[in-house]
Amino acid sequence: MISKNIQKIFDIGLVPLIVLDDVEDAVPLGKALVAGGIPVAEVTFRTEAGGAVIEKMTQEVPEILVGAGTVHDVEHAKEAVEKGAKFIVTPGFNLDVVKWCVDNNIDVIPGTVAPSDIEAAMNLGLSVCKFFPAEAYGGVKTLKALAGPYADIKFMPTGGVSENNMNEYLTLSNVGAIGGSFMTPSKLVKEKKWNEITEVCKAIVKKMLG
Ligand code: 3PG
Repeated sequence: MISKNIQKIFDIGLVPLIVLDDVEDAVPLGKALVAGGIPVAEVTFRTEAGGAVIEKMTQEVPEILVGAGTVHDVEHAKEAVEKGAKFIVTPGFNLDVVKWCVDNNIDVIPGTVAPSDIEAAMNLGLSVCKFFPAEAYGGVKTLKALAGPYADIKFMPTGGVSENNMNEYLTLSNVGAIGGSFMTPSKLVKEKKWNEITEVCKAIVKKMLG
């Protein structure tokens, strides 16, 4: 069963990765993504500002679906949800975080790379997993192989996904969306070039398979 939020992610098909040092960038970046046609964000806890960015983007850019990424522990999962995150993404299969999300009815997309991770997710009733780091773990070839035994599982590959290979992933029957930093190039974020980020997003949406 796919939730409303996950369905929205799949409808958009793209999940930009957000790494911000300055909470003041949350609103302009959120608005840039919305203007670029990608109204979803995985705001990572790779910086101290992660929680504050989630809060600000959620409150001030209501059009965007905000989730939390790089969640390594239950404390960060709780903080993210308290601050308004609508979904949680983990880089690896973190049993504590996933269990907490499932018990609290929070959408979670756990990181997986191998059958044992996928089965751990299935045991908790999940049918959507991140596939990370996608390119390093065999990319499209691995996902095709996983489609046989795990036909009911949908993946969100990230890690090395770019505008050049995204359509190879998006055509796979077991891919619901792709994620990555290519929608939010760090150079443009650092230089606060919000209009350019909008243009990058528009070009990616245009290049995406319908
Ligand atoms: C992630 O956490 O999803 C990855 O770090 C994204 O990888 P990318 O920078 O190669 O897109």
